[in-house]
Amino acid sequence: MDKWILMTTARAPTNIAVIKYWGKRDETLILPLNENISVTLDLDHLSATTTVAEISLSGGRFQTCLREIRYRGEDFKDEKKGICIKKEDWQTLHVHIASFNNFPTAAGLASSAAGFACLVYSLAKLMNLKENCSQLSAIARQGSGSACRSLYGGFVKWTMGNELNGSDSLAVQLVDETHWDDIVIIIAVVSSRQKDTSSTSGMRDSVESSALLQYRAKTIVPKRMIQMDKAIKTRDFASFAKLTCADSNQFHAVCLDTVPPIFYLNNTSHRIINFMERWNHNEGTPQVAYTFDAGPNAVMLAPNRKVGALLLQRLLFYFPPPSGTEPTSYILGDTSLLE
Ligand code: PMV
Repeated sequence: MDKWILMTTARAPTNIAVIKYWGKRDETLILPLNENISVTLDLDHLSATTTVAEISLSGGRFQTCLREIRYRGEDFKDEKKGICIKKEDWQTLHVHIASFNNFPTAAGLASSAAGFACLVYSLAKLMNLKENCSQLSAIARQGSGSACRSLYGGFVKWTMGNELNGSDSLAVQLVDETHWDDIVIIIAVVSSRQKDTSSTSGMRDSVESSALLQYRAKTIVPKRMIQMDKAIKTRDFASFAKLTCADSNQFHAVCLDTVPPIFYLNNTSHRIINFMERWNHNEGTPQVAYTFDAGPNAVMLAPNRKVGALLLQRLLFYFPPPSGTEPTSYILGDTSLLE
């Protein structure tokens, strides 16, 4: 038979948690200590692109995803090209992967979320899987927990699940991307340095040492999940903003409560929090929301383009990008808001 290459390319967006996932109840299967919710960003600004061609990648989590997908592969036939692959052939075919992110990697911008979601999705396409996005999310979860939420757009919940094998700990779309599409998301890249503490080791230390994390997972998050779900479905920005900021601050409080303490935020992050808090306080009701993942970069949300444009103007005034830097390399998001 002639040589052939079967190739698939996919793009997947990253997502930012508004109720944070922090802590695993099962490290191997990557099962979360608490349910969580995220918003998926649009593909243009923060996404991963992956091409897979019929892998020789080492590394535990890649291999886990690949194994799970190989095992579900279906027959593939292209009569014109004379290609016929039987489902059992997927077990042994070598796969080559090329993947890149259009934003800083491992700087607390959920790059692994986009990367693993994209890997799983493109492998599933390559191997002709019949599984839907929710079922694929349970595979992406085993690469990186937050990746399961990037299989959907809009607002997405990662459910705890009850099964011991983790098969029902997956992503569920709460609302699609059209439901609240006037929300504007702006990201200030405070630092694109790779973080010192990975989420994997940070979570492990928090689970072992933080009493606040246990209290948060059992008592605080279950109530917040209900309130957040309602705020999203009713597009109640004020409640959404309060919950988002409170949850981000509690996540970073858990990091400080961890032994040894984890410092993801820096002085600039703290100044951004102060600036947003003062703005909301002066207006009487929340106008803007902020959230920080495992890094110092600020993800800010505004209810519409008008407030988004104001936010961008104020950010560039109070936190100007270092001289010689284009605003677009400091601010990720829709900079057309400035025009
Ligand atoms: O899935 P991981 O290992 O990248 O962990 C993500 C953890 C946070 O980004 C801090 C919170 C979240 O829910 O995305």
